[in-house]
Amino acid sequence: MKGRWFRVLVLAAASLPMAARTAPPPDPETDRQTLVRFFEARFPGIPKDDYVLGAFMVNPDARRHYEDIMSFPPFEVDLDRGRKLWESPMRDGRTYAECLPNGGERLAGSYPRFDETEQSLVTFEMLLNRCRAASGESPYRYDDRDTMGVLTAYARTLSDGMRMDIRIDSPGARVRYEAGRALFYRRMGQMNFSCANCHIDNAGRVMRMETISPALGQATHFPVFRGGDALYTLHARYTRCMEQVRAQPFPMGSGAFNDLEYFHSYLSNGLPLKASVYRR
Ligand code: HEC
Repeated sequence: MKGRWFRVLVLAAASLPMAARTAPPPDPETDRQTLVRFFEARFPGIPKDDYVLGAFMVNPDARRHYEDIMSFPPFEVDLDRGRKLWESPMRDGRTYAECLPNGGERLAGSYPRFDETEQSLVTFEMLLNRCRAASGESPYRYDDRDTMGVLTAYARTLSDGMRMDIRIDSPGARVRYEAGRALFYRRMGQMNFSCANCHIDNAGRVMRMETISPALGQATHFPVFRGGDALYTLHARYTRCMEQVRAQPFPMGSGAFNDLEYFHSYLSNGLPLKASVYRR
């Protein structure tokens, strides 16, 4: 199981600065800027907005392939199914667009957002479920690809081009951000790897034929369609990565994954959203 790629990654990780994980956590913006500078040094000359391309940003052939697929996306049919859900009136006659601020457009990039009244995080998926609850509908499950999956695959495209704008402006919000950050840097699973070990320390390196994407930009384009047709929400991708290191994944839509998403999305602040894209 612990094949050659694994030893290569461990060696690579060992040579990297430890400061980011041993010192007390810096404030979120300092933290983010430090990462931006780290990646600028690792990937000199790559335009900032290219980080939304993930691993494709460092591989011109893969990027061309991506652009070809995106000109005729094979997952168009799922987006259509999502649009139908989006446009269907709910029990009280209202649509999502009528329930959400700004008709649901240019909105997804502000989520997760900390709700001061409830002192908890609200993800974009939870926001859609709030609309459902308000109109007397039962909530969709986060991990149901045929409902929440396709609905968000369409709804998030209404925020394409918006720049990620995650706010952490209260002590309660900061607590959730720190919890997400701790999770991102925590080693887990039989392989004892953290998210940071792969998506910071080893970003740009190849593992099992896959180039590892940098953490910056990763939260801007979900859901993705792996292989062109398999819908993966952000939490489904977290699940897959935890399984890869033989860790027990948290449930999709759980508080732990919401915290992780909050921290992870904050890292992408300022980058343009582009939902529902092809991935390998
Ligand atoms: C052993 C290395 C490894 C670990 C640990 C790991 N990942 Fe990944 N991750 C990958 C690989 C390989 C891919 C697929 C190539 C890519 O897009 O980076 C990937 C893909 C992703 C993607 C999709 C990127 C995109 O643009 O489609 C996200 C998001 C992600 N990982 C987040 C995480 C998070 C959060 C954690 C911690 C819970 C984590 N990963 C842990 C290796 C890892």
